Amino acid sequence: MDNETLRSIKNRRSLRSFEPEQLRDNELETIVNAGLFAPSAVNQQSWHFTVIQNKDIMKRMSEDTKEYLKKSDNPHFLEMVQRADFSIFHNAPSALLVSGDTKAVMPEADCAAAMQNILLAAESLGIGSCWVDTPVHLFNSEKAEQWKRELGIPEGYKPLHAACLGYKSSAPAPEAPIRKENAVNYIR
Ligand SMILES: Cc1cc2nc3c(=O)[nH]c(=O)nc-3n(C[C@H](O)[C@H](O)[C@H](O)COP(=O)(O)O)c2cc1C
Repeated sequence: MDNETLRSIKNRRSLRSFEPEQLRDNELETIVNAGLFAPSAVNQQSWHFTVIQNKDIMKRMSEDTKEYLKKSDNPHFLEMVQRADFSIFHNAPSALLVSGDTKAVMPEADCAAAMQNILLAAESLGIGSCWVDTPVHLFNSEKAEQWKRELGIPEGYKPLHAACLGYKSSAPAPEAPIRKENAVNYIR
């Protein structure tokens, strides 16, 4: 079977190259609004969204995150932070943080559901995105409180997921990764 929703699900790819042009406000609002319609445990809607379009702030977040990850013992992070031109937002013009209410029942799951709605809404409008959780590490650093204040993250909320968004560049989209086999068991 095939329809527009299934095509958006299958065609969405994590893109890491974007046009510099900023997204139109109504497109971005439509995309973020899709996050508000995600399911949530006991309907707590335990999310809060921060849309960031300020280049200076994005650059400083990237630098501070990289500085923090230099202290990590994870070889993936260490390789990444060595690259001077590497931006945690892949140089996209817009970024989005989804923060969860730490007192909610399942904020991780609620915020992940909201994030997936956002990525699919973007794809349905032909807009590129990448789920990037690297920026979330910033909120485990010694600068966490300073950044939460600057970004207006509400008291009691913690950034759990992030994404970057922008118009797709002319670079060819990556192939869909091969799907894991034997991942489904039907019991009838
Ligand atoms: C929880 C989560 C965290 C991720 N973090 C990053 C990230 O920090 N940087 C990045 O470039 N991609 C990140 N990704 C994207 C994955 O690398 C990508 O989804 C995966 O390679 C499959 O490719 P696809 O999204 O095109 O299907 C993340 C994805 C998820 C779900």
